[in-house]
Amino acid sequence: MARYLITSAIPYINGIKHLGNLVGSQLPADLFARFQRGRGNEVLFLCATDEHGTPAELAAAKAGKPVAEYCAEMHEVQSDIANRFGLSFDHFGRSSSPQNHRLTQHFAGKLDEAGLIREVSERQVYSNADGRFLPDRYIEGTCPNCGYDKARGDQCENCTKQLDPTDLINPRSAISGSTDLKVRETKHLYLRQSALKDELDSWIDSKSDWPVLTTSIAKKWLHDGDGLQDRGITRDLDWGIPVRKGEAEWPGMEGKVFYVWFDAPIEYIACAKEWTDARGAPDAEWERWWRTDKGADDVRYIQFMGKDNVPFHTLSFPATILGSGEPWKMVDHLKSFNYLNYDGGQFSTSQGRGVFMDQALDILPADYWRWWLLSHAPESSDSEFTWENFQVSVNKDLADVLGNFVSRITKFCRSKFGEVVPEGGAYGAAETALIENLTTRIRAYEGFMEAMEVRKSAQELRAIWVLGNEYLQSAAPWTTFKEDPETAAMQVRLGLNLIRLYAVLSAPFIPDASARMLAAMQTEDATWPGDVAEALAALPAGHAFTVPDVLFAKIADEQREDWQTRFAGVRT
Ligand code: 2FM
Ligand code: ZN
Repeated sequence: MARYLITSAIPYINGIKHLGNLVGSQLPADLFARFQRGRGNEVLFLCATDEHGTPAELAAAKAGKPVAEYCAEMHEVQSDIANRFGLSFDHFGRSSSPQNHRLTQHFAGKLDEAGLIREVSERQVYSNADGRFLPDRYIEGTCPNCGYDKARGDQCENCTKQLDPTDLINPRSAISGSTDLKVRETKHLYLRQSALKDELDSWIDSKSDWPVLTTSIAKKWLHDGDGLQDRGITRDLDWGIPVRKGEAEWPGMEGKVFYVWFDAPIEYIACAKEWTDARGAPDAEWERWWRTDKGADDVRYIQFMGKDNVPFHTLSFPATILGSGEPWKMVDHLKSFNYLNYDGGQFSTSQGRGVFMDQALDILPADYWRWWLLSHAPESSDSEFTWENFQVSVNKDLADVLGNFVSRITKFCRSKFGEVVPEGGAYGAAETALIENLTTRIRAYEGFMEAMEVRKSAQELRAIWVLGNEYLQSAAPWTTFKEDPETAAMQVRLGLNLIRLYAVLSAPFIPDASARMLAAMQTEDATWPGDVAEALAALPAGHAFTVPDVLFAKIADEQREDWQTRFAGVRT
């Protein structure tokens, strides 16, 4: 049995994620986790909420709540939606957990011992009215280049010029609007990534099977311009993990916290400890996934994320791990995604544009979305959600191809043989050919799933469903029955067994429908198919079943138009 450690980029705590976020991280990670579990492998699938940073503080303030309370509530909200989307995390943790506090402080201490931390004095904008230092993007003013009056301290969104907050004319706080700003001296810790450049470079070179999207981004950061830059890992904020060296104080760093991007990936590890602590299990149980000196040597670790997250996962987090000098498991494969666009524009959390996870579930069950999103995953390029395309995919793939097959065969059997698998004669040439074609396609499907080729996997699965339909169409048991009920019975027996096989193969994509198919076939046998002929004999003659309710309802034009209008604007 192989062992797979799977993590998805951890979503920010503020707000509910849109479908573009989902398809680039949590959903494909779930697909892979379900597939590996289905094949009988051992899986630890972890995700969490990313709870620190200024956006979380500001969202809490807007909600009129203390930030800890806001995060606790939003964690529950996100956890509930993840469940309803069928995201099968073994643990959904929190980057603000005590476990992550301790581990983040531990890593900082180790990096410091290794001489990889330096102190830097900086001049930063402080807002008297807000009582805080302002991150660059929370300072607004007039762009010196184009005169746009809402330019941000890091960049002007009108002319795209990169800015320094001190470049802005009439700067003000984007939080309060106050112009009572001062430049103040403050001290921060920097991680000396540059000292680890060669080590990171050769580590990335050793990953010849990584997608080009992943390695090209990493290489660009390593080699473009002045090469890999050291990075500030602390901030002057209240909310976050206090800066300490392990358990000791860090003189001069009182009142400061670690930067959210320093502690977030460490949560991948801390999350595993949260998982065992929650059950009162010993540390050895999580360490066998994460410590190469404690059994994690044979673990294959795969990370899933959108392309904007790649630099942090190929450089900064590996720098933290390598720099610690400790035997932590490092990522083996990093699957990254392009962006999913929405109906001619971009999904946008800040502007509330697109469909958000909770809204999606208000309209249709998770499987409809899972199927469309995964079968259109933005792998080789950005892809686009349109309501027309969504309607066509659902109606054709799910309702016409899979749903129709299940409904026809179960209803026909009930009407002629009752709700039990009939006996019938031996397989003929058509059945042998079908089994051969299925075998070829199922092996191809497994290959694509192993390689995390999400779209190709979906295409192959659909082709497997089509094979069943074509067989049914040409075998036509409803016609055969009139002359030769024996043969018709055999065809139906095969068809009913195909439903079970489809349930097993489709579970990673559409887990609810798959469970309903297995329930209708009154079996718990979800063994992944080795020999296909054998798999098609799992339900013997005399085995009882029930006709399931409609698996997938078609989307009517009026519904599509209604949703199109409803989601044309922005969420308020
Ligand atoms: O982009 C994001 O949504 C980040 N919250 C991802 C963090 S992934 C990690 F490093 F933990
Ligand atoms: Zn400008």
